Amino acid sequence: MSARVAILISGRGSNMSALCEAMKADDFPAKPVLILSNRPGAGGLEYAKAEGLPFAVVDHTGFESRAAFDAALHHALMPAQPDIICLAGFMRLLTPGFVEKWTGKLVNIHPSLLPKYPGLNTYQRALHAGDTETGCTVHHVVPEMDAGEIIGQARVPIRQGDTAEMLETRVREAEHALYPACLRKLVGQSSPD
Ligand code: GAR
Repeated sequence: MSARVAILISGRGSNMSALCEAMKADDFPAKPVLILSNRPGAGGLEYAKAEGLPFAVVDHTGFESRAAFDAALHHALMPAQPDIICLAGFMRLLTPGFVEKWTGKLVNIHPSLLPKYPGLNTYQRALHAGDTETGCTVHHVVPEMDAGEIIGQARVPIRQGDTAEMLETRVREAEHALYPACLRKLVGQSSPD
């Protein structure tokens, strides 16, 4: 039985498409059931359309509070009955109430070796600190930002002369392998009926 996977995006959606491409494999025990964006113009929606995947937009600018937006997000997700919700470049902080409703099902990818550099500007911060390596982390989502249990990490070297853009490209490539591997690990552990 395939686990049902919803993917939340805000932008380009390259991690979302990497997950969806991986799920095309016959032996991958998961399938995408909903792509959800908080931005109507998110580039990743084009992939969803081209692939004929179910997608929805819940535009956060139409809501007066985080709680109201998260309630709408919850209602958009419910009919899809996801076993796992992958945050893939979803750039909204989720309220504790929302996170509690989906506890154990929410995972995120973050462009640093957590617990180092939670939050934004991770590449600049790694370069500024003179680090010789950085990477990416897939982790469970808890109410505290970028703090949940780690599912997997990939390390990426920082080379002399690297710019934040160069690092971003290298880390993103690692993300595209790490996220599907972690999803496979996760759905291998759970047994949806
Ligand atoms: C990814 O690098 C992801 O790790 C990061 O946003 C990018 C989205 O790219 N997420 C965060 O920074 C979350 N705090 P994508 O839209 O091409 O997948």
